[in-house]
Amino acid sequence: MSAIDVDRLVARAEEARSQAYAPYSGYRVGAALLAADGTIVTGCNVENGSYGLTICAERTAVCRAVAEGRREFLALAIAASGERTPYPCGACRQVLAEFCPPGMPVCIRRADGGVEQRKLGDLLPDAFTLEPPHP
Ligand code: THU
Repeated sequence: MSAIDVDRLVARAEEARSQAYAPYSGYRVGAALLAADGTIVTGCNVENGSYGLTICAERTAVCRAVAEGRREFLALAIAASGERTPYPCGACRQVLAEFCPPGMPVCIRRADGGVEQRKLGDLLPDAFTLEPPHP
């Protein structure tokens, strides 16, 4: 990914963060998924008074993209409010592994504005998936 592409994707994640519904944690998160057709699909975290029903920004983006007919992805960016770096939770890593290749870059925006780039397969090695993937 070029630096410009990373910047563009991170900017879309930051924009999506503004829609976060996070009245309980106050931690607002946005995610932006680059689909194989070039479309960027965004998501935000959606919390619930029954805390365990909260949906993270990354899963919102994946579900939205799949519902729109997109199942192949090239990159993901995540941006959060506050100091804590939004490393994706275990559930999101597993959901991402269903649709995204292990080599897919995950661009995580830090509070200082820097972006950490990881591969999905490094975040979740030996992911459990069934074959064939997303026919
Ligand atoms: N959260 C995300 O949306 N993505 C992450 O990568 C980390 C955590 C949300 C879930 C919850 O609404 C809040 O952050 C605090 O855990």
